[in-house]
Amino acid sequence: MPKEKFTVTAALPYANGPLHLGHVAGVYLPADIFVRFLRMNDHDVAFICGSDEHGAAITLRAKKEGISPQEIVDKYNSVIGKAFNDFNISFDIFHRTSAELHHETAKDFFKRLNNEGLFTKETSEQFYDEEFKQFLADRYIAGTCPNCKSENAYGDQCESCGTSLSPADLINPLSTLSGKKPILKETYHWYLPMQDHEGWLKDWIQKGELNGELQHDASKWRNQVIGQCMSWIDNGLRPRAMTRDLDWGVKVPVEGADGKVLYVWLDAPIGYISATKQWAQDNGKNWEDYWTRDRKLVHFIGKDNIVFHAIIFPILLKAHGGLILPENVPAYEFLNLEGGKFSTSRNWAVWLHEYIERYPNRIDELKYVLTSIAPETKDSEFTWKEFQTRINSELADILGNFVNRALVLTHKYYDGLVPQVNELNDEDKHVLEEMASIPRRIAKLTYQYKLREAQAEAMNLARLGNKYLADTEPWKLIKTDPERVKTIMNIALQITANLSIVLQPFLPNIASKLEAFLNISNNNWNNAGSNDLLNAGHRINKPEILFTKVDDELVEAEVKLLEEKAKENMKFEPQKEETSFDDFMKMDVRLGKILTAEKVEKADKLLKLTVDTGIDTRTIVSGIAQHYSTEEVIGKTVTVLLNLAPRKIRGIESQGMILMAENAEGELAFVSPEKEFEPGSGVR
Ligand code: 2FM
Ligand code: ZN
Repeated sequence: MPKEKFTVTAALPYANGPLHLGHVAGVYLPADIFVRFLRMNDHDVAFICGSDEHGAAITLRAKKEGISPQEIVDKYNSVIGKAFNDFNISFDIFHRTSAELHHETAKDFFKRLNNEGLFTKETSEQFYDEEFKQFLADRYIAGTCPNCKSENAYGDQCESCGTSLSPADLINPLSTLSGKKPILKETYHWYLPMQDHEGWLKDWIQKGELNGELQHDASKWRNQVIGQCMSWIDNGLRPRAMTRDLDWGVKVPVEGADGKVLYVWLDAPIGYISATKQWAQDNGKNWEDYWTRDRKLVHFIGKDNIVFHAIIFPILLKAHGGLILPENVPAYEFLNLEGGKFSTSRNWAVWLHEYIERYPNRIDELKYVLTSIAPETKDSEFTWKEFQTRINSELADILGNFVNRALVLTHKYYDGLVPQVNELNDEDKHVLEEMASIPRRIAKLTYQYKLREAQAEAMNLARLGNKYLADTEPWKLIKTDPERVKTIMNIALQITANLSIVLQPFLPNIASKLEAFLNISNNNWNNAGSNDLLNAGHRINKPEILFTKVDDELVEAEVKLLEEKAKENMKFEPQKEETSFDDFMKMDVRLGKILTAEKVEKADKLLKLTVDTGIDTRTIVSGIAQHYSTEEVIGKTVTVLLNLAPRKIRGIESQGMILMAENAEGELAFVSPEKEFEPGSGVR
């Protein structure tokens, strides 16, 4: 493949919380693998990321934590940046959109587009929270998703189905600030008339053509990406507001736009450009080289970001002029966790920084597992059980076992010196051919963004080596045919050396260890496949165990931890065990009217009530004295469980139970009918 130039970006994570394994598997790890591979192939690459520090995602989080938006972004920029570093993600720069350089870049970009007449300024009625005196865009408004009917969709997007929304699309919209129904109030904004761009977008997305010229290879775009874009376009693009009434963000750089900032989805992708500028400044380069001419721009993102990267940002880039449009937008589906969706609000997540704290020596193991299950074409799932199986029966039993055998036998038979190859038989030739073809297959798959299969191919090389040793049994032959064993061991060592190359994009730490064991250094992909990476007589080092197995205790402890943390986070107890309809029908629940009430002596909590149940008048003792006075309860119609076995409470026989609602703060409320109903009416 001729040397090419790439600018690879990974979606800027919101600096409003830490990263979880879903983010890693579906954006950052694949981007890192791709970039490491490109670098090994001598392509000229810039790998760009940073934190996304504007928008309602940030201000709402700040409100929740009771600190300022600046404090929030400082905190999470550092947590996220450190986790990337510890996880060995090889960005050239991890920048931030709160940086001055970014604000300037985004303002210039907006001004240029505005001067070109790309936007229209329009007045409209928008949702407004009267209590908080604020317009409600994006995450400030929530309601039911018109697409999947999830009840927690935001004004910009439904997180359940990934559909991109406008506040007006929501069914039953409510303010996320006050929880109340918003009013409509007039305001003005700058809009991008997206419908004006449908024509060229269709050709560009489906055929890769722009202005009649082939611009990218559309056959390499994932079906879901093209599918989602086309469904958007086919449903008719609409004008989209590019500014917001907010005080946190990039100020709209136009006269008379006080109190308005750029829409976060306008400023965030420009963050890729400002980050490149910063990196270029720091390294004596020209940023424009990375955004113009013969460069391939590749955006690694999650599926909920497709429309922004494959429709909106390309419109802006094209309108700006002189900048390249993406060559590809490899978008990932979602990773689930132990049967559920990753969820920050339910604390159902494995956080990357916490994993690293617990398992600092299992970084590449996690990479391996996440790439094996990466949600490339459909949603997939992480379980600790699979984590264990992949590490134990693939990394340890296949890769670790093969490398260990090859190196230990070399020390045993040849005192750590690589033996020479003698005559090759058919089996040897076949193995060497396979060894040569694997790097080619990995390369092909990687250029097609099929990294899951690419990693599986790299593991096939270890499988090949393992099988070769198992079939040839050098440990038996050493007594009868020592010359033949030299050839076998040479080949096994060449395979190990090849592994140290082809594993580099996927498992960089492990690949470095292999290099150290073999006493070589080789980071050029072109050398992969060669049967001549180690000369006869070359001295290798003593190996160490590459992988320790994951025991059942770890799996159990992790699953338990996950469940406990989710429980701690839950306001209410989880649902009780299922019950049958028949069991439910055994309970006799009716409305009853409280006729008299008196305090029970020496019992702070108890009231003795007489209740008209419609069939009789009976005594019920109820633990509500700290919540209600006797006067408050007399005359109330409440819900009563009649056929609860009578119990003596403080010497008084209680013949039933008053049913009460209890909120998270422990307050009690009667369950009373919303209309006048007579005592004795059944409740089911
Ligand atoms: O979905 C997200 O997490 C966004 N913060 C991604 C932004 S990507 C880019 F446009 F900056
Ligand atoms: Zn939805």
